[in-house]
Amino acid sequence: MKIYLKTPDEIASLRKANLAVAAVLDACEAACKPGVSTWDLNEIADRMLKEMGAKSAFLGYHGYPAVLCTSVNEVVVHGIPRKDVVLKSGDIVGIDFGCFIEGFCGDSARTIMIGKVDAETKKLVEATQKSLELAIAQCQSGNRLQDIGWAVQGYVEPLGYSVVRTFVGHGIGKSMHEDPPVPNYGSPGRGLRLKPGLVVAIEPMVNAGQPEVEVLSDRWTAVTKDRSLSAHFEHSVAITENGPIVLSRP
Ligand code: MF3
Ligand code: CO
Repeated sequence: MKIYLKTPDEIASLRKANLAVAAVLDACEAACKPGVSTWDLNEIADRMLKEMGAKSAFLGYHGYPAVLCTSVNEVVVHGIPRKDVVLKSGDIVGIDFGCFIEGFCGDSARTIMIGKVDAETKKLVEATQKSLELAIAQCQSGNRLQDIGWAVQGYVEPLGYSVVRTFVGHGIGKSMHEDPPVPNYGSPGRGLRLKPGLVVAIEPMVNAGQPEVEVLSDRWTAVTKDRSLSAHFEHSVAITENGPIVLSRP
């Protein structure tokens, strides 16, 4: 395992990349209305990338064909934007975006509720968002890596939800995916000791039903095996002497 601790200058570049990511997610979120296709969202992200002089972290990554991931309802992550996937009231859509600025990668995701969603759906989305905040609060120098995953698991499982294990968060820097892997489950007080300069992308994926996922024949779209709803939030977080800095929060 090779862990790259970042200098303050490198964290400043990571901050720029993540602010660009946040601007794109804000624009996509504002456009998330019934009748809009997930391809329309990809076009917004693509135009903004060019305007900002940033480079997509997703396009071409292991052959991924778009700049955005758009994951509707039972899609957990890695949904490919499509003209024929049109958002409707009651849907939820995970939007995930990453880009490089000054050679450093930003990565963040959020799940948006479209129109009027039912109370159960709203609860899942809000619990997933809350689990990410609890995980971020664990990003203190001296804490352990599994404190992060435990924060997610320990919050959502008692609510009757499950944590996806097939996909995990990750270190992030000059590459989108660096060591260490950051699972959304774990035991408190276990794992790598967190140090100033460590930067991690924490990304809980929480299912209303069972934790198992299945990848569709497009080789990207990951859905829940039981086709239950799934929500996903992600922030890139720097650990410092003075606690966590959420780089992807404007
Ligand atoms: N944010 C995701 C991740 O951390 C999405 C990357 S998938 C890609 O892994 F293929 F689109 F790049
Ligand atoms: Co990520």
